[in-house]
Amino acid sequence: MNIGFIGAGHMGSAMIEGLLKAKIVTPENLFVKGGSSGTAEALQKKFNFQLIKDYNAFKECKVIFIATGAKIVLDILKQAAPFMSKGTILISVATGHTVEEAQAVLGKEIHVVHAIPNTPVSVNAGMIGAVFASDMPGASKEEATRVLESLGKIEEVSENILGTFGTVAGCSPAFVDIFMEALADGAVMEGMPRSLSYEVIAQMMLGSAKLAIETKKHPGELKDGVTSPGGSTIKGVAALEKNGFRYAVMDAVKKANS
Ligand SMILES: NC(=O)c1ccc[n+]([C@@H]2O[C@H](COP(=O)([O-])OP(=O)(O)OC[C@H]3O[C@@H](n4cnc5c(N)ncnc54)[C@H](OP(=O)(O)O)[C@@H]3O)[C@@H](O)[C@H]2O)c1
Repeated sequence: MNIGFIGAGHMGSAMIEGLLKAKIVTPENLFVKGGSSGTAEALQKKFNFQLIKDYNAFKECKVIFIATGAKIVLDILKQAAPFMSKGTILISVATGHTVEEAQAVLGKEIHVVHAIPNTPVSVNAGMIGAVFASDMPGASKEEATRVLESLGKIEEVSENILGTFGTVAGCSPAFVDIFMEALADGAVMEGMPRSLSYEVIAQMMLGSAKLAIETKKHPGELKDGVTSPGGSTIKGVAALEKNGFRYAVMDAVKKANS
């Protein structure tokens, strides 16, 4: 199956990497159109996909992704639409538009999915919120789901929560990265080597996330399981609370979502 791509920036390149790793597409069958800065050219050297300068190859693509900035996405879709064949699945990961708006530009014969992923798609561990066009045929929906699932977990959501979903799943990796860095700074301050700190912390976060997913336990219950009376963990929890950790995180979500 041929896959087309418009935009190979941060998110586009993460998805391209994930799709190739999952072997859902081969470099020969992946047609990527970048912008003007040379980012796509540099990425092509790494992944060896088909770098394209116009949309002609899209005629043979079953699935096309668009991952450009929000403001230009509908204009670009307008330019690319004449090159899409009937039944093509268009997956937009760009924010700032609705399925209906993309559908109006592309016409009814193109099947639109609005999906908001996060950067862990590059290691096939993404979290993707997806809105499917309401009249999308079952076979197209299955095919779109199969492709997206190769990049991680997919959750079908309604359009009115896609923005917040995108904030929580898409922006939070940066929040978590800062948390990991801060934990490592603390560990280094206490005398642990930095590289070991990062390794330990990343594995701890992976394990904590796995435990939450597999046990389905409430986060508070998991926290209670680590905090023995008068122990060191509850002292650390108290220090976080004293410094407004929960509010800082809630406020980060609110600000990122505004
Ligand atoms: N980053 C995330 O974690 C994340 C998460 C969820 C959703 N999103 C959404 O994904 C979209 C892309 O985000 P991003 O972070 O990847 O932005 P980005 O790094 O700025 O990437 C956008 C890319 O679009 C390319 N582009 C611009 N005009 C183009 C054109 N006419 N044809 C083909 N490519 C063109 C740019 O290429 P040049 O620079 O070479 O011009 C750039 O590489 C945004 O709408 C964003 O809201 C991002």
